[in-house]
Amino acid sequence: MQLHELEEQMGELEIRNAELLQAMKETEKVLQKYSNLFDQAPVGGVITGRDGIIRAVNHVGTQILGGERSDLVGRRLEHFVPYSARSVFTEFFGNMLRGEQIATCEVERSGEVNRAIIHFEGVCTTAEDECRIAMIDITGRKLSPEERVKQNLRLQELSGELARANREHHQEIFRHKKWEEALNVSLSQQRKLASRIMSVREEERTAVAREIHDELGQMLAALQLNVSLMAQEYSDHAQLVARTKAMENLITSSIMTVQRISSELRPVMLDILGLADAIEWQAKEFQKRSGISCKTIILLTEKKQDRDLSTAVYRIFQEALSNVIRHSGATTVQVDLVERKGWLVLTVRDNGRGIAEQEKRDVQSLGIAGMRERAETFGGKLRICGAPQQGTALFVRIPLTGKELLYAHQDSCSR
Ligand SMILES: Nc1ncnc2c1ncn2[C@@H]1O[C@H](COP(=O)(O)OP(=O)(O)O)[C@@H](O)[C@H]1O
Ligand SMILES: [Mg+2]
Repeated sequence: MQLHELEEQMGELEIRNAELLQAMKETEKVLQKYSNLFDQAPVGGVITGRDGIIRAVNHVGTQILGGERSDLVGRRLEHFVPYSARSVFTEFFGNMLRGEQIATCEVERSGEVNRAIIHFEGVCTTAEDECRIAMIDITGRKLSPEERVKQNLRLQELSGELARANREHHQEIFRHKKWEEALNVSLSQQRKLASRIMSVREEERTAVAREIHDELGQMLAALQLNVSLMAQEYSDHAQLVARTKAMENLITSSIMTVQRISSELRPVMLDILGLADAIEWQAKEFQKRSGISCKTIILLTEKKQDRDLSTAVYRIFQEALSNVIRHSGATTVQVDLVERKGWLVLTVRDNGRGIAEQEKRDVQSLGIAGMRERAETFGGKLRICGAPQQGTALFVRIPLTGKELLYAHQDSCSR
């Protein structure tokens, strides 16, 4: 597939992902609405599994049962019923489990201060494997039979509402999960595509690098030879010799430029030496170019890693070093490339001015975004830490398949 086709597909995926995210936000809003409805209901509401374990409880429910929500959820509702009323409650729960009809019971809590009579009313559904129970504190209410009928009707209405809200809540959760699955699939496609685009780009760079190196490099070498022969042939012509010397110098620096450009386009070192040595080589080059001392510690199982992965790590490393030169004002850099518990971990620490939070989050920070994208394409993570005047540290973790540590190398390239 051509690069532009891949990029087109990527664009489509990006649009689809944005749509999915929007849809997820909408369902979250609906979910929140129902959560609020449940939580603010004027009666105690509790949802349990058919095993009696509390799954959710609303605000009034926590007051009636006497506990924090975090203490209640995950425990059996029965535990919050006074011991003396357990048999009444067990019978009530049994009735709920047996039929799809509403069961009721009254539970009395004794005690001087917190004496209370709680009316329980609930129904269990087999379809959703859950029981919805409404609880109302009827302490001190002497209810006439008519009032009791009215109260019951009201309660039934409320628990009906609660049940309806919950059903919709569940439907929303279900839809939410579906959206999430779709989003995950789409994100993983996007990641694969990004990885493919990167490797196609690298292939193109490799081809251009080879062309520049072979064609232009050889022409310049031939030109250099001819110029130096000319200088020898006309050695008695001082002015001409001086001119050819100047030309030779220009050609030499052009050859070096061609080499630099082609090695920046595709670091041959990476293909020839493998990731470990290429990182070391790049660190040395960096030190020569910048005058910033650069130490490396490399501990890898194998010198050579997967080509795409090596390229990603190498490109991240290049960007990290270029940031050190351009922004840090550092005098030393420590580079570690190690394998730890199946992860390839690259760390680049400098002793410069330190990166600020907003610099990391800035949308203009394309270099950082690019490094992160490369790491994430391989299921990895990128972290950047910085403190004022205490330098910046960049950590990249990319998963590998676990291998024993066979290749250990330590080197310091500081002068
Ligand atoms: N090693 C570093 N030390 C201090 N600041 C840094 C360092 N690396 C990056 N930064 C800050 O983070 C910003 C974003 O970096 P980056 O995304 O690579 O963008 P760019 O290099 O194009 O400015 C930089 O402009 C700089 O302000
Ligand atoms: Mg940068």
